Amino acid sequence: MGKDVIIACDFESAEKTFEFLNKFGGKKPFVKIGMELFYAEGPDIVRKIKERGHKIFLDLKLHDIPNTVKKAMAVLSNLDVDMCNVHAAGTSRMMEAAIEGLTRPDGTRPLLIAVTQLTSTDQTALEDELLIKEPIKDVVMKYAQNAKRSGLDGVVCSPLEAAAVHTACGADFLTVTPGVRFADNEKGDQKRIMTPEQAKLEGSDYIVVGRPITAADDPVAAYNRCLEEFVS
Ligand code: C5P
Repeated sequence: MGKDVIIACDFESAEKTFEFLNKFGGKKPFVKIGMELFYAEGPDIVRKIKERGHKIFLDLKLHDIPNTVKKAMAVLSNLDVDMCNVHAAGTSRMMEAAIEGLTRPDGTRPLLIAVTQLTSTDQTALEDELLIKEPIKDVVMKYAQNAKRSGLDGVVCSPLEAAAVHTACGADFLTVTPGVRFADNEKGDQKRIMTPEQAKLEGSDYIVVGRPITAADDPVAAYNRCLEEFVS
């Protein structure tokens, strides 16, 4: 599986998304569609971006009872997305049901990755609200191992955790890592960050990059810089 750069298309409308993608001409970057755009535009946005020839990571982070997740995943599989995700907190039964729902009659399916703990959850919230007393790092690794055992392909994690996830779950278990910034960029609201080059050295398989590309004066140049640092 090749390393790639996934652009987080965090736009509020299809119009703004296509205005952005048109800048890339014949190039077809791998894109991430999140809740904001999906809920605004519905499944049609996925079909339209697919028609243009892009790979799509549909970042909807499903978390519900196994039967509901299985049926929802069958719908996403029919939409022909390339990657989608669930919360590992839904437990192994839910993750196994997700795989079942995603698998097409011919045995193929989109990649499925798990969110371990949201980066917005800190140790205090983990202990005081979720009543989980273990160190957050151990919780993340345990959830990643649960995902691996349930047949998932990888996890979303910080590039700082990519090496540890590979050690715990194997080199071929995918690490999809947001929190990427150029050395000379603004951090924005991301706290734990790495450059594309550092993420590569840590063994990250896919970097998810939003504002360093979408808010750049020249988004195509910023995307190419990510590719140069991370892939080549
Ligand atoms: O603009 P920026 O590069 O910070 O965008 C990162 C993308 O990755 C956003 O779509 C954000 O929601 C997502 N993400 C994240 N941290 C996580 C999980 C997802 O930044 N832990």
